[in-house]
Amino acid sequence: MIVSVPKESSSNERRVALTPDVVKRLVAQSVEVHVEHDAGIGAGHADAAYEAVGAKIVTDRDAVWRHADMVLRVQRPMLASEGRDEVALLKEGAVVIGMLQPLTNHALVRALANGKATSFSLELLPRISRAQSMDVLSSMSTIAGYRAVLLAASLNARFFPMLVTAAGTIAPAKVLVIGAGVAGLQAIATAKRLGAVVQAFDVRPAVKEQIESLGAKFISPEAGAVEGEGAGGYAKELSEDQHKRELEFLHEHIKKVDVVITTALIPGKPAPTLITEQMVKDMPPASIIVDLAAEAGGNCELTKAGETLEKHGVTIIGPLNLPAGMPVHASQMYAKNMHAFLGLLIDKEGKLQLNFEDEIVKGTCVTHEGNVAHERVRQVVEGGKGS
Ligand code: NAI
Repeated sequence: MIVSVPKESSSNERRVALTPDVVKRLVAQSVEVHVEHDAGIGAGHADAAYEAVGAKIVTDRDAVWRHADMVLRVQRPMLASEGRDEVALLKEGAVVIGMLQPLTNHALVRALANGKATSFSLELLPRISRAQSMDVLSSMSTIAGYRAVLLAASLNARFFPMLVTAAGTIAPAKVLVIGAGVAGLQAIATAKRLGAVVQAFDVRPAVKEQIESLGAKFISPEAGAVEGEGAGGYAKELSEDQHKRELEFLHEHIKKVDVVITTALIPGKPAPTLITEQMVKDMPPASIIVDLAAEAGGNCELTKAGETLEKHGVTIIGPLNLPAGMPVHASQMYAKNMHAFLGLLIDKEGKLQLNFEDEIVKGTCVTHEGNVAHERVRQVVEGGKGS
C-alpha cells in the first residue's frame, strides 16, 4: 500500500501530516510512504530526514496524489474553484484522512463522494477514552490556548507577573478565561506560568475542579443560574434568560481585568456572543481580548476573524489557525495522533482494513463508495447550508 503525504496547499500552513519518526514506524510495517518534496520543511523536517527512514521523495506534485492508496493531510484537499483540483487527482477508492471540516465544506464532501474516495475527518472522532491518543482537536486546542496567552502577553501594555523593582511594585496582570475546555485550560495554565492572576468561567460546572487545580479561581453566578452541560460532556446552547444572566455576570468581571481569553464553543452552532460592545467600552484602557472562537463567529461581537483591531481603547484579536504558527510541535502531535488512528486502518502486514463496526472508524468516515457515510454530515450537506 502506498501512503502519500502531499505538501499542504494553503500558503500559511506549515504543519505536515507525518513526521519522520512516524514514517519510520509505517515503513517497518511494510507500508510504502511517498512524501512530496519539501512537504515537511515548514515543520523542520527536510526531505533527507524522510529518506533516511525509508520514504520516497516525490517531486511531481500530481503524482504524489495519483499513485496514493491513502493520502494523509493536515488540511482538506483543494477543489478546482480554489485553483487546483486535488480531489480529481485521487484514484477511485483511495483513502483520504485529515481535518476536512466536512460540516462546512459541502462542495468538498460532494466531490469526495463523487470521486468514490473513502474519506475520514479527524475532527469527528468520538471523545471516548480509546480515541484520546488520536484526538487532533485536543492537540491543536492545546497549542491554540498556549499561543493565545503569548499573543496577549506580547501585545500587552502591562507586565503579566508581579514585579518588585527599584521603581516600585508592579501588580500582576488580571486574566479572565471564558470557556475552560482544552484550549481554555491550557490558556489558564500558560497565564499562571507567566505570573498573572487568573479567573475562569465555563457553563459546565464539572470544570470547576480542573480550573482550581491549575491555581486559577473559578467564578460563577449563583449556583445553577448559568449551566449548560449537554450530550457527551459538551456545552449546549443556553436559554435566552441564562444567556442574559451570563452577560450581566461577565460584564461585572470584565470591568476589572486586563486580558480576556475567550474560547467558548458549542458543537455545530455559531459561537455564543459573550462580550458585547458595551462590555468592551467598560474594560480598563489598553486591555486585550483574544477571541479563540473567531473562526466560529467570535465570542466578542466586535471580533473580526483573522484581524487585530483596536476599539474603545481595547485590542481585540481574532486569530485564525494558531496551531500552524507552531509547526514543529503541532506536526509532532498531529503525526502521533494520525499514527494512532492509522492503527485502526492498517493491519500488521501493512494492508488496508476498513472495519466499520468500530465506532471510531464509523464515526469519522465522511464518504465511502460514492456515498456520504456520516449521518450528521449527510444531513447538513443535503440541507445545503455551507459552501
Ligand atoms: P469546545 O472547544 O467545544 O468548547 C470550549 C469550551 O467552551 C467548553 O468547555 C464549553 O463548555 C465552553 N462554553 C460553551 N459555551 C459557553 C458559554 N456560553 N460560556 C462559557 N463557556 C462556554 O470544548 P473542548 O475543548 O473540545 O472540550 C469539550 C468537552 O470534551 C469537554 O467536556 C472536555 O473535557 C471533553 N474532552 C474529552 C476528551 C476525551 O477524550 N474524553 C478529550 C478532550 C475533551
